[in-house]
Amino acid sequence: MSEETRQPAPRRVLSGMRPTGRLHLGNYMGALYNWVKLQREALADGTPKYECYFFIADFHALTTDYADTSSLKENVRQVALDFLAAGLDPKRCTIFVQSKVPAHAELGLLLGMITPLSWLERVPSYKDQQEQLKEKDLATFGFLGYPLLMSADILVYQADFVPVGQDQAAHVEITREIARRFNNFYSGPPTSPEILTEPQTLLTPSPKLPGTDGRKMSKSYGNTILLSDPELEVRAKLKTMVTDPARIRRTDAGNPEICPVFDLHKVFSSNETQTDVRAGCTTAGIGCIQCKGWLADAVVAELAPIQKRREYFEAHPGEVDAILNEGAVRANRRAEQTMQQVRSAVGLV
Ligand code: TRP
Ligand code: SF4
Repeated sequence: MSEETRQPAPRRVLSGMRPTGRLHLGNYMGALYNWVKLQREALADGTPKYECYFFIADFHALTTDYADTSSLKENVRQVALDFLAAGLDPKRCTIFVQSKVPAHAELGLLLGMITPLSWLERVPSYKDQQEQLKEKDLATFGFLGYPLLMSADILVYQADFVPVGQDQAAHVEITREIARRFNNFYSGPPTSPEILTEPQTLLTPSPKLPGTDGRKMSKSYGNTILLSDPELEVRAKLKTMVTDPARIRRTDAGNPEICPVFDLHKVFSSNETQTDVRAGCTTAGIGCIQCKGWLADAVVAELAPIQKRREYFEAHPGEVDAILNEGAVRANRRAEQTMQQVRSAVGLV
């Protein structure tokens, strides 16, 4: 076959999410929405562009929440439902739970042998999180090893691309360094000496979504709109959302550019609606209640198909289990391919 006609192997994409419970609009726009698009991307001849793996990082949840694991199982279930509700399609991607693929832990252990402590200590999230989560004792081996485990997650699939937001870019960078160091110590047969693939960050657009209090939407702030919130709840939450603080009376003109409600309009509303909001707000032609009503219409419309799929999967738990089981089988198969090369190169077996 000539160069032009040879089918390139689809490039592997991998990403994961911690099981934090029911997901909110921030989780959706920051990750899931992009994953759903990636699984659908196709080459000119219609074949999929990527071989996608998306997983629920339950081991990672334990790095910070080891002291009380009572909600872990339920959180994993809720995130699985939200994955499927958002449109991840088991026909187009492999969906699984991290702990069902022990190779993540095995590769993590082996990478731990070659990773200098100083590399882990200088990852910015290490000290940041310890300071932010003061109520938890994060002076643990597992928490320090978080970026190492994430590296194993990625490298065990020899992934080419990792779609993540800016906050995770440092973790993909250390993954590249660890892969390079591994490849320097150990190599495969002369025909394919480089075992671990240095992944590239696929920086996904992750608009900063404000929550109802105007701060970044986050479970810990209690300001979220959930993918599974019923319409009335969405409308009620948006009604309480903070606005341009200078717009006190209905007759005051407002400034959409400093209003968190408008930040959400920019993500969810049509250009026409955005134009109407700009014109109406700056001239006091519309009130904030009306403006929030328009936003609620757009958010509710975005959520409707998601909630319809969620309802289906909630009513068919056996199907969800089957999808996750099949995903684990596929993920284990692919991870095992890497691990055979790894074990042999390291001198195990
Ligand atoms: N650390 C990621 C987060 O907190 C989740 C994650 C774990 C991940 N392993 C991964 C993301 C591997 C991408 C690839 O959001
Ligand atoms: Fe914000 Fe809309 Fe009120 Fe203007 S009209 S201040 S954009 S909520």
